[in-house]
Amino acid sequence: MRLSKRTEVFTDSVIRRMTRVSDEYEAVNLSQGFPDFAPPKEMTDRLAQVAAEGPHQYALTWGAQNFREALAKKQEHFSGMKVDPETEIVVTCGSTEAMMAAMMSVCNPGDKVVVFSPFYENYGADAILSGADPIYVPLKPPAFTFDANELEEAMKQPGVKAMILCNPSNPCGRVFTREELSVIADLAIRYDVFVITDEVYEHILYKPYEHVYMATLPGMRERTIMCNSLSKTYSITGWRLGYVIACPEVIDRVKKVHDFLTVGAAAPLMEAAVVGLQFGDSYYEWLQDKYTHMRELFTGGLENIGLSFTKPQGAYYVLVDIREFGYVDDEEFCVDLAKEVGVGAVPGSSFFREDVNHLIRLHFAKQDQTLTEALDRLSGIWKLRK
Ligand SMILES: Cc1ncc(COP(=O)(O)O)c(C=O)c1O
Repeated sequence: MRLSKRTEVFTDSVIRRMTRVSDEYEAVNLSQGFPDFAPPKEMTDRLAQVAAEGPHQYALTWGAQNFREALAKKQEHFSGMKVDPETEIVVTCGSTEAMMAAMMSVCNPGDKVVVFSPFYENYGADAILSGADPIYVPLKPPAFTFDANELEEAMKQPGVKAMILCNPSNPCGRVFTREELSVIADLAIRYDVFVITDEVYEHILYKPYEHVYMATLPGMRERTIMCNSLSKTYSITGWRLGYVIACPEVIDRVKKVHDFLTVGAAAPLMEAAVVGLQFGDSYYEWLQDKYTHMRELFTGGLENIGLSFTKPQGAYYVLVDIREFGYVDDEEFCVDLAKEVGVGAVPGSSFFREDVNHLIRLHFAKQDQTLTEALDRLSGIWKLRK
C-alpha cells in the first residue's frame, strides 16, 4: 500500500504502549497521566441538564460565545491579560488540537522549531505534520535548567520560526522562573520567533512555585501562542476541551485551520464546562491542596522505599532514577516493573532526544487508595536489581 511518507515515521505512542503492558499484567497504571477521581460535581450536574436541554448541534466553529467570554474573564483574573473573546480565542478539541493548529498556522515545511528536551511526545508529531524540523535544546537533569548560550545557538539558526515551551513541564516537573522566561522572551524577540506555549498544568503547582504566563512578559503578547486545556484543571481529560489564545492576526489563521481540522469542540461539553470556568479562587486553592497531598503521599512513599527521584515543582509526574538496578534499557525495566512488581511506568528515554536511559516516569494524579496500592507494590521493586 502506498501510504503517506509524512506519517511513515510515526511510531506507536510509548505511553499508550505502556498502558497496554500494564493492562496485560494487571499493574496499577501510573504511565498515562490522567486522574482516576471525578470532575467537580457542578460540572457533571450541568452536563446532565445540558443532555436534556441541549445544545446538541454545531457551536460556532471557534467556540461557543458564553464559553469564550467566561474563558476571557478567567484568563484576565489569573494573568491580568485582557483577551478579546471575539478575536483572540479559538476553542479546540483539547490542547492537542490547539498545538497542532498553532503549528500548522505558523510553520511552512522546512521551518525549524526549537523544543526543550525532555519533551511531551506530541510535539514530535506536531512538527512532522506541520513539516517543521525540531532543534532540541537540553534541559539538564537533575535540575532541568537550560543553558542560555545553547538556547541562543538554536534560536539564531536560519529558518527558526517558533519555540515550543511546556510550562509547567511534563515530564520533568519544572516551573520556569520569570528570569528563565525572560531569557527565552529576549531571544524570541531578538530572533523574531513565536513562542508556542503548552500551559495545561497552569493550576497544578506546588508552593512556593508560581506560574508566569509567557504572554504577559514585555513584548511577548503578540508573539506568544498560548495553547491550553480544561483537561487537567477540571479533571476532564475525556471532554476534549482546549483553546488557543493569541493576537488577532494569529487567531484569524488558527480559526481557519481549526475549522478544517475538527469544525469545533463538542457543543454540550462546552456548555457544561462554563460553570467550571466561572469557579472562584477557592476551587483552584482546593485543587492545589489536593495535588499537594497526592505529591506528598506519593513522594513520601518513594522516599521510604529508598528510591531517588525528582520532586516536581508543577504538573504531576516524578522521574525515578533507575541506575541502581543495573538495566541498560529503560523500556525493558518498565516491562519488568509491570510484570514483576505490578506498576505501570513510562521509560524516560521516550521523552529525551539525548541518550538518557536511567529515568522512568510515574504519575500521581490518583486517589489515595490507588497510590497506596502502587506504593505497596513498589516496595518490592528491589527484586529487579541485577
Ligand atoms: C504537556 C501536555 N500537553 C498536552 C496534553 C494533552 O492535553 P489535552 O487533553 O488538552 O489534549 C497533555 C496530556 O497529558 C500534556 O501532558
